[in-house]
Amino acid sequence: MKSTIAALQTAVQAALVAAFGSDFAATDPMLVPTTNPKFGDFQANVAMSLAKPLGKAPRAIATEILQHLDVADLCEPPEIAGPGFINLKLKTAYLAQQLTAMYQDERLGIAPVKDPQRVIVDFSSPNIAKEMHVGHLRSTMIGDAIARILEFQGHDVLRLNHVGDWGTQFGMLITYLKEVAPEALTTPDAIDLGDLVAFYKKAKERFDADETFREIARQEVVKLQSGDAESRQAWELLCNQSRREFQLIYDRLNVTLTERGESFYNPLLADVVKDLEATGLLVEDDGAKCVFLEGFTNKDGNPQPLIVQKSDGGYNYATTDLAALRYRIQQDHSDRILYLTDAGQANHFAQVFQVARRAGWLPDSVTITHVPFGLVQGEDGKKLKTRSGETIRLRELLDEAVERSRADLAARVQAEERQETEAFLHEVSQTVGISAVKYADLSQNRTSNYIFSFDKMLALNGNTAPYMLYAYVRVQGISRKGKIDFDQLDADSQFMLQEETEFALAKHLLQLDEIIDEVSQDLFPNKLCQYLFELSQKYNQFYDRCPVLQAAEPLRTSRLALCDLTARTLKLGLSLLGIPVLERM
Ligand code: ARG
Repeated sequence: MKSTIAALQTAVQAALVAAFGSDFAATDPMLVPTTNPKFGDFQANVAMSLAKPLGKAPRAIATEILQHLDVADLCEPPEIAGPGFINLKLKTAYLAQQLTAMYQDERLGIAPVKDPQRVIVDFSSPNIAKEMHVGHLRSTMIGDAIARILEFQGHDVLRLNHVGDWGTQFGMLITYLKEVAPEALTTPDAIDLGDLVAFYKKAKERFDADETFREIARQEVVKLQSGDAESRQAWELLCNQSRREFQLIYDRLNVTLTERGESFYNPLLADVVKDLEATGLLVEDDGAKCVFLEGFTNKDGNPQPLIVQKSDGGYNYATTDLAALRYRIQQDHSDRILYLTDAGQANHFAQVFQVARRAGWLPDSVTITHVPFGLVQGEDGKKLKTRSGETIRLRELLDEAVERSRADLAARVQAEERQETEAFLHEVSQTVGISAVKYADLSQNRTSNYIFSFDKMLALNGNTAPYMLYAYVRVQGISRKGKIDFDQLDADSQFMLQEETEFALAKHLLQLDEIIDEVSQDLFPNKLCQYLFELSQKYNQFYDRCPVLQAAEPLRTSRLALCDLTARTLKLGLSLLGIPVLERM
């Protein structure tokens, strides 16, 4: 099934070539959806942009284009408006035919891409022995949605968890634990992760305040790095403990990741420095090895260095990312690499990418993109905290979402005097609670900060998960009420479009492929949310205006198919956001 906009694009381009010659084969027809249905569905604005190069009036250009434009299968006869807009109105028969194609296809008309890429999505990436915070949660949810969309398109996606599992924090932690809880270094599960995080904080305090402690901690790092068996075992225990805790969160969110932490690249760090040296980019500054960056200056206006080896010989976050980048290109053969972190790391990535590019490690065929996002704030606009002012633990945050959704559900069930089983209450509140958290995050433009509000995300009205899930449930309700098996609907049946709300719904359904394509390029999943929200609204408007079960055949079947197509589109769209649907709620 060819997308409408692509078909129109091809037709206008052919007309441009026929009218003005092959020089115009690559000219952008400047097709946009019209803002007012009075002007049809699409508008081509190319005539305006050609006025200068052709030295003609835009209206005259538009007239010439129309003489060669063949869109009879798709559109009513095109019209010229204003200074030279070409207005295109889709034919009802064409819409019906597109709906049928979408309806008959399991993938709703979206064919897998012709040239699948190897894409690495680097997301989630919490740090061992530290709290997995709401920023990591955001990375996890947005990264998962992006990975799902690319996977659906047929790309070969590697979902990498770049866990912070290496570095000076272990020296400090091991030193401290030797003092206060040595069993944690030799026995699995001797302490709980919550305690581990608390130990980490205490260890950090000691490290900052106590010179002797600092020295011992440094020696611990050296021991660990040199492969000392005892340190290694302690390190593994600590990692496993954190890992299990992270996994609980991933399981609840239904997110899969391949862990490849910073330690994985440790053996490759010396080569990064050596190879940078060979390129001539490396400079020694105050004992540290670094590359002076272009376009980054410090407060005195001097070029800023990116340090890749500290004066004590240690490597850092940037060295690891340089090694990871090379590995992902050379060993993983990736074509596209996406990094999901908060916007605060934008400079880090810009600098790492610059050094890699200047070192010649980044072929033009590979695209690397930092995909930044804003902060999660509490309702007071400040950093999200618990009521008692502590950092929020993710497990508790998810629990609270589920508890609240359970309370809402229980109240509704009681008000409606329904009898529901415990299994039903459990499943619905789990799904709604977790989905609400995911959807609230994904529906925001990721670059802005967003305010975390349980009340807003759980509301049955508005751009929320419950609203979307409810629209799906509504369609299933029709099938139950009318004893309709959607799978048994005559798939060849003609779609009949009559009412305005029916047209609006149909046209919106047909935009699914464009939206998915757009999100796969610019990586803004909120566009998919917006699409689904509008779909639910348009569906509700259609449902209010157009009788379905009461309609006479063949209109009844057509409308039932429209309902089913809406539900399937919601289900697919939500699944790409990592949200499952419910049959009842
Ligand atoms: N562990 C880092 C943090 O918590 C995020 C890592 C992101 N990925 C990367 N390749 N640097 O901030």
